[in-house]
Amino acid sequence: MIDFSTQYMGLPLSGPIVVSSTPISESIDNVRRLEDAGASAIVLTSLFEEQLELESKALDEDLSRGTESFAESLGYLPDLSDYRMTHEVYLDHLRRAKEAVNIPILASLNGATTGGWIRYATDVEQAGADAIELNTYALATDRSQTSAEIELQLLDLVAAVTSAVKIPVSVKLSQSFTSVPHLVARLEDVGARGVVLFNRFYQPDFDIETLEVRPTLHFSTPSELLPRLHWAAILYGHLKLDLAISGGVHSAEDVLKGIMAGAGVTMMASAIHIHGIEHIARVLADMRYWLEKREYTSLWETRGCLSRRSVPDTSPFDRGNYIKTLSSYSLRQTVAAF
Ligand SMILES: Cc1cc2nc3c(=O)[nH]c(=O)nc-3n(C[C@H](O)[C@H](O)[C@H](O)COP(=O)(O)O)c2cc1C
Repeated sequence: MIDFSTQYMGLPLSGPIVVSSTPISESIDNVRRLEDAGASAIVLTSLFEEQLELESKALDEDLSRGTESFAESLGYLPDLSDYRMTHEVYLDHLRRAKEAVNIPILASLNGATTGGWIRYATDVEQAGADAIELNTYALATDRSQTSAEIELQLLDLVAAVTSAVKIPVSVKLSQSFTSVPHLVARLEDVGARGVVLFNRFYQPDFDIETLEVRPTLHFSTPSELLPRLHWAAILYGHLKLDLAISGGVHSAEDVLKGIMAGAGVTMMASAIHIHGIEHIARVLADMRYWLEKREYTSLWETRGCLSRRSVPDTSPFDRGNYIKTLSSYSLRQTVAAF
């Protein structure tokens, strides 16, 4: 029997598949089914900074009727009813999820500024969250803001949260930072215990008939895994914090690749939406078959075996790969394709 146990953010986990933040876990029945299918932890759907801001402004408005600034200040935010859960409902759901299962439940806070995060972080800690995932989705659209300022803002946010709570905190990171290894090392310095590679950006699509810009959400494909494997393999072995891969994990092969790159866990959302909750059990069974056939006794033995520090030839991770890949594509292939 293969031992699947692993570790993430210092939490001992029974296996490598964590359910990433998605509405699937908004039902307690699903939370139970996810545990039964073999998920080793669940990251709840996010509480959004903007939603909390709206709730507190709505409360202020109730307390002092007649203030006009409230309605004006809301122009850029969705309606409160667009959000899936209010703060109180979220805390209640977290408590019920904790009661329903034995696996760790991670709360997800989604924001970009230090704002009121500390209060919400301590609230989810008190409600029983085993850890907090901070999703810092922010787009640099202001030309006066430098990369260094953006990184500093992120580090301040993480430092504020990690010093306010005792439970481990991870950061779901955007892929578009210039020096990922430097930033991740600094996140570790300010107390992060895990990093999730990477946040998935949802770019709007353009409708050329109606001349509208529309939000889109497509589920991922396994091709999105490659940049995550690449960075996990580069980061592995240089840090004390644990790595998680989120994005493009669909099959047993994807999970194995993630662990071999050096991740402690891999996270799944799209694959569960597409194939159903039982998909987790099928992936674990496929992994077991693959590992047993090759006479491994534990998943841990494979961890990091394809990381940059483990392979004899590191050129595939560096500029050498870029040159080799481009040079290997011959004119003959190009002509044949046309
Ligand atoms: C329907 C849906 C809702 C999501 N909601 C959240 C969310 O509230 N917070 C968050 O951090 N990520 C959210 N995500 C992103 C996922 O957690 C995950 O990082 C992303 O989908 C990439 O993983 P995948 O390839 O397994 O789908 C959502 C994804 C989907 C498909």
